[in-house]
Amino acid sequence: MRIALLGAPGAGKGTQAARICEEFGLKHMSSGDILRAEKAAGTPAGIKIKQYMDAGQLVPDELTLSLMREHIQKIEKGFVLDGFPRTLVQAQALNRMLFELDRPLNLVLNFDVPLEALARRFSGRRICPTCQAVYHIESLPPKVAGKCDHDGTALIIRADDKPEVVQQRLSTYKETMDPILAYYKKLGCLKTVDATGSIDSVTKATIEKIKRHFED
Ligand code: AP5
Repeated sequence: MRIALLGAPGAGKGTQAARICEEFGLKHMSSGDILRAEKAAGTPAGIKIKQYMDAGQLVPDELTLSLMREHIQKIEKGFVLDGFPRTLVQAQALNRMLFELDRPLNLVLNFDVPLEALARRFSGRRICPTCQAVYHIESLPPKVAGKCDHDGTALIIRADDKPEVVQQRLSTYKETMDPILAYYKKLGCLKTVDATGSIDSVTKATIEKIKRHFED
């Protein structure tokens, strides 16, 4: 299984990617996590990445693609790409990269949520800076308030979840997503998941959709 997850910021890609990977034994690869790690390392690339991420803008294609290529080449099993690709240039480059590796994508899932429904997801999101696990103070609270279930690290608010940055991320999404959806529709591998329900109901619908797709 080689799957990519698309959807607006806050649509639930990261949350569902972790659950899909657990269900099917796949590797979770989040471009946001990879870029955040580079930013935290303070490398020359990380310093450049910070300018874009903190402003809620997409990191330039060339830089994103070079980092993603490095990680994708190392995967030795099925995978779930989360938040990548984000532009048509990235989608086309990914297609070429995966064909060269003889491992093309076989499913693209678009998590569909009305953008007005997302505000509560951002305001309540907390993440673990150590293992990147994602929580929500109401819909997915940790067992001990403020601590990661996996490693006990104190949870933090993501730097780009400030309301003004969220607005910019949503505008960027609206400007860039249509050509990618059209591209995968034309390739015949795009399916849509209604991601408005509870986390568990979205997981159930997603896993059923994946099973049906690979059984056909
Ligand atoms: P990235 O980290 O990819 O963020 P994003 O796409 O903006 O998506 P999010 O992580 O905000 O949301 P999600 O869909 O994963 O939702 P989650 O599961 O966390 O990108 C960040 C930045 O990095 C970008 O702005 C850009 O600068 C850069 N970047 C990344 N990839 C790039 C690329 N390819 N090219 C260029 N730049 C790139 O859920 C959100 C919250 O809601 C959580 O608290 C969760 O618990 C909760 N929740 C989830 N589902 C539900 C539900 N069904 N009901 C109630 N609550 C829910």
